Amino acid sequence: MRFQLPRSSKNWLSILGVTIALVSLLLILFLWMVSISSKSNGSYLGLITYIILPGILILGLFLIPVGMLKNKKKTREEAWPKIDLNDSPHRNAFFIFITGSIILIFLSAMGSYQAFHMTESVEFCGELCHEVMNPEFIAYQNSPHARVACVECHVGSGADWYVRSKLSGVYQVYSVLFNKYPKPIDTPIQNLRPAREICERCHWPQKFYSQKLDNRIYFLADEHNSAWRIQLVLKTGSALSAHKLSEGIHWHINPDIKVEYLTSDKKRQDIPWVRTIDARTSDTLVYIADEVENMEEIQATAPIRTMDCIDCHNRPSHNFKAPSAFINHAFQEGKIASDLPRFKSLAMEICEEDYKDASSALSEIRKRINQFYKNNYPNQSQAKIDKAVRSFQEVYSKNIFPEMKVRWNVHVNNIGHLNNKGCFRCHDGLHVTESGETISNDCVTCHNINLQGKAENPEYAVFGKSLEFKHPVDIDEEWKETLCSECHTGLSP
Ligand code: HEC
Ligand code: HEC
Ligand code: HEC
Ligand code: HEC
Ligand code: HEC
Ligand code: HEC
Repeated sequence: MRFQLPRSSKNWLSILGVTIALVSLLLILFLWMVSISSKSNGSYLGLITYIILPGILILGLFLIPVGMLKNKKKTREEAWPKIDLNDSPHRNAFFIFITGSIILIFLSAMGSYQAFHMTESVEFCGELCHEVMNPEFIAYQNSPHARVACVECHVGSGADWYVRSKLSGVYQVYSVLFNKYPKPIDTPIQNLRPAREICERCHWPQKFYSQKLDNRIYFLADEHNSAWRIQLVLKTGSALSAHKLSEGIHWHINPDIKVEYLTSDKKRQDIPWVRTIDARTSDTLVYIADEVENMEEIQATAPIRTMDCIDCHNRPSHNFKAPSAFINHAFQEGKIASDLPRFKSLAMEICEEDYKDASSALSEIRKRINQFYKNNYPNQSQAKIDKAVRSFQEVYSKNIFPEMKVRWNVHVNNIGHLNNKGCFRCHDGLHVTESGETISNDCVTCHNINLQGKAENPEYAVFGKSLEFKHPVDIDEEWKETLCSECHTGLSP
């Protein structure tokens, strides 16, 4: 008996469909074996194997019935197929269809599982749209969350957010393909999943965080890059009253407390109105900053935001450091010799400029440093200068991304108060209630200073007490009156 198929299947469209489907199936199997044998889970390979080729395969399959239908119209067969299993062409077609469908369902279950894994991987998020995500991907690799996948924070668990993220992903793919994405990407992200659902899967307010000792070395922008030390004890404790320990920085996320605020600015940097509600006593306090002109307009139009982790930890995983900080760290790690005269001030000057792209920034760094030492300190060892150039280029490229226009003062970090207002958005001593309480700006509210001074002979505090802050260079009492960030922009003050 000859192997026969219904007449309607003999048309060029269906044959083309079969060919497309078979070729893409073979390609999928081939690439799948390649990815197993090379143990690579490269995101480009994954994208082709689990998303693009299956799409083409389905298109091919779709062409088969379309061709058959068109053909039927031409040959004036009835529109709907008549299935007669005693008729061998019908039987053949029927069994091919059933077996094909079973195999396909099985393969697509495997494929969607792989596609799910692939789109959730750090490589997919960080590398695929290379230029767009590069700043975050690079910064992420040097962060405390380097082993937490992007999706753990950006999507989280549950089908609902998975689907939402994939839908917004479709738009993102479009905006990347047609170069429609903003540079830099707008923050704060409006549709970020609430922090309490994300961060609190791994960290939670009831957990007691002990105080944190922070040891810092600063290098001044003087001839000798003089080192200055400050050791802070950050009062991160969030002891609940049950622990009979005092509150601390995490007081704001105590489940019994609600801190709300209004902001007139998209970046949430100006906060003229703050309200705290204590659920235990229902005490409510409203703090209003003095001298805000359009206060009524803000109160009428701005939505009230409840403070959560992101209002302080807005850079938990991709923090872009200011030049002053990343150069300090490079000195501290010994990557740049701190006895290269005037290096700090020179490096900050170089960072002041905007460069067209990373490679012109890097070549400018090399050129300017070499020129500077040739003109001013010709006796410095060239090997030391070369090493400093390389290290400076390295730290520069981890923190400043000219192509995406990403740098420290574009995506500011709200922890602290040195280079932007941060905590001082509210804790500036100028937010007052009607009865005269202020949001505290006393330096010991948030940290004690254990040690400070020239690296060779610092002063030490009595145990448990704080030293009064001494500004590293003499600016008189200016630091008490002016916000640090008004002088400190991340470059030379
Ligand atoms: C620990 C949690 C966490 C992880 C892990 C994480 N992110 Fe984020 N990401 C955030 C938060 C929070 C914001 C919102 C910042 C804001 O709104 O100001 C953000 C913002 C962003 C933005 C907007 C631009 C910017 O810099 O703020 C991009 C792009 C981004 N993340 C990409 C990534 C990529 C790619 C990865 C993985 C390589 C990743 N993120 C990993 C928490 C995280
Ligand atoms: C999947 C688990 C996970 C999620 C989700 C997560 N983190 Fe973390 N986080 C970690 C781990 C692991 C560490 C590193 C702990 C260590 O080094 O001891 C960490 C460390 C931190 C630290 C300490 C950083 C330091 O300098 O040592 C902060 C702050 C932090 N996370 C904030 C957040 C915030 C804010 C979010 C939500 C946007 C978040 N985390 C979401 C797992 C997570
Ligand atoms: C009137 C301007 C001004 C104010 C206000 C000010 N500073 Fe400074 N600060 C300076 C100058 C100038 C230097 C020296 C610059 C240098 O050598 O890099 C400096 C240096 C420093 C340094 C060491 C350099 C480095 O690597 O960052 C630290 C730390 C510092 N200031 C902390 C603070 C703090 C904290 C505050 C707020 C409580 C503050 N400053 C307020 C002007 C100011
Ligand atoms: C008022 C601002 C603020 C809020 C709100 C806040 N934090 Fe923090 N958190 C801090 C500061 C400041 C530190 C210590 C400074 C640092 O690590 O750079 C810190 C430290 C941490 C650490 C590290 C603790 C350690 O001992 O290393 C974790 C983890 C953390 N926060 C998680 C969270 C989570 C999760 C939330 C939300 C539920 C949250 N924080 C809300 C300001 C805040
Ligand atoms: C949206 C406004 C706002 C921001 C931003 C903010 N705080 Fe607060 N904070 C408050 C208010 C309101 C209080 C209660 C009044 C007070 O104690 O001064 C408070 C209280 C505190 C307290 C005392 C808690 C206690 O034990 O009673 C500490 C410590 C603190 N904040 C640290 C920080 C740190 C650190 C940051 C920055 C990382 C920060 N805050 C950012 C509004 C804010
Ligand atoms: C509302 C809380 C709060 C108040 C009030 C406060 N600080 Fe801080 N300060 C912080 C936090 C949080 C950090 C840590 C930032 C980080 O982790 O990078 C910090 C960091 C610093 C640093 C290290 C700077 C850096 O970024 O390297 C200095 C110096 C300092 N504070 C001095 C002061 C002085 C002086 C005062 C009083 C005028 C003061 N602080 C008031 C919360 C506060």
